[in-house]
Formats: sequence, structure tokens, C-alpha cells
Amino acid sequence: MKKHLILLGAPGSGKGTQSARLVESGFTHVSTGNLLRSEIAKNSELGKKVKGILADGHLVSDDIVVELLKANLNLENNTYIFDGYPRNKKQSETLDGILEGHDYIAVYFELNLDILIERITNRRTTKDGKNIYNLKTNPPKVEGICDVTGEELIQRPDDTEQIVRERMTVFKETIDPILEFFRQKGHLVSVDAQQAPDQVYKEITKNLD
Ligand code: AP5
Ligand code: MG
Repeated sequence: MKKHLILLGAPGSGKGTQSARLVESGFTHVSTGNLLRSEIAKNSELGKKVKGILADGHLVSDDIVVELLKANLNLENNTYIFDGYPRNKKQSETLDGILEGHDYIAVYFELNLDILIERITNRRTTKDGKNIYNLKTNPPKVEGICDVTGEELIQRPDDTEQIVRERMTVFKETIDPILEFFRQKGHLVSVDAQQAPDQVYKEITKNLD
């Protein structure tokens, strides 16, 4: 049976980029950030509740996120990549419980945080967040247009320098207990996420055998 993957890493560390590649080898991607942004785009009750929280770069409450996550999981038929969940120790325990009886590894995207403001402020994506570009390192062939879907690319509202700094602060305050939790469980591996995307992908997949 294939292992589920939990991707852990700072904003901009490449979780979404690697997920898009891993989906091609049969994983199902579940990103709590994408699910929350989709609720905001629909202007649902949930979306209205969380819009300001994402815009400020803060974390949404554990209860809201776990409900959204569970509603989008079917563990019987899929091998998942969890992207953006967990974000604290409680969410780590919750996910470990959800995955009871299933094999998984938690992959930490290790890199120098100083490079991330530039990476993120140059990011452009499709509205659903699935196709990810970078104006400097991975631009679309036609400016402002997705190579794959032909739709217009957008910049996430939380991708301004000021909000990225806030998201980094939240990340630094929360990451250590998460890493410790998965280390103690014997599930943690680290990859050097400062390398080119192809190299990062190779490092992740060599842990799957
Ligand atoms: P979320 O959507 O999870 O965002 P994040 O963790 O801040 O991460 P990003 O999506 O910004 O970065 P990424 O690692 O995916 O990088 P990417 O591949 O795009 O969360 C957003 C918000 O939702 C949170 O702030 C919170 O409010 C809420 N939320 C979500 N989950 C929650 C939860 N569980 N609990 C509570 N609240 C929650 O790459 C970035 C850029 O770098 C791109 O331009 C890309 O082209 C480029 N790039 C990628 N890899 C490389 C590479 N190897 N070399 C050079 N450039 C690269
Ligand atoms: Mg992402």
C-alpha cells in the first residue's frame, strides 16, 4: 500500500508546487488553504467567516479546518498529500488519529526563510491554486495566462510583503512542536527545499519506497 504524505514547510517553501507533480504519480492533493480559498470564492457562510483571517495571515480555528478536511477525505480509495494541514500540535494529533491504520510520512521542507518573501511576492496561480508560477523563476509562456488551462492568473490577496511577514511569524511560532510530534512518532523526514523543483521532487519520492 502506498504511503500518505504530509507536507510541512513555511509559506512559499514549495508544498503546492511539489503536490502538483506528485498528483501525476497517483496521489490525491488536499490543501486546506485551497479549500478555504474556495469557500471564500463561493462567498459561503464559512467563506465569510474566514476571509479576514486569511487576509491577515493568521490561522483559522482548528474546528473549522478539521471539518472542512474531513468532508473532503475518502481514505478508502485515495492516497493523499496533505498540504497545509497540520498547522499546530493539536492538528498533528488529529491527523495522526485520522490516519490510524494507514502508513504515512511527514516531509519537512527545509530552507533558508530569507528567500521566501521574494518567492511568494512573485507567485501567480490559477484561481483554484493548482497551477503555480513564478514571475522570476517559472513564468507562464504568455504573460498573465496559465499555460495549462488558458485562464487568467491571479495573485493571492495574502501574498503581499506585509502579510507574508505575518505568515512567517506564525510559521516560526508553530513549527517546532509539529516537527517534534512527527519525529517522536518516527514519521519525519526532511528534504532540502532550496534546490530546484526537480531535485526536491527526487528527494521526496526516494522516501516513498
Ligand atoms: P496555505 O494555502 O497552506 O499557504 P502556506 O502554507 O502559506 O503556503 P503557500 O501556499 O504560500 O506556499 P507553498 O509552500 O505551497 O509554495 P508554492 O509551491 O506555492 O495557507 C494559507 C492560509 O490559509 C493560512 O495563512 C491560514 O490562514 C489558512 N490555513 C490553511 N491551512 C490551515 C490550517 N490547517 N489551519 C489553520 N489555518 C489554515 O511556491 C511558492 C512560490 O515559489 C511559487 O511562485 C513557486 O513557483 C516557487 N517555487 C516553488 N518551489 C520552488 C523551488 N524549488 N525553487 C524555486 N522556486 C520555487
Ligand atoms: Mg500552497
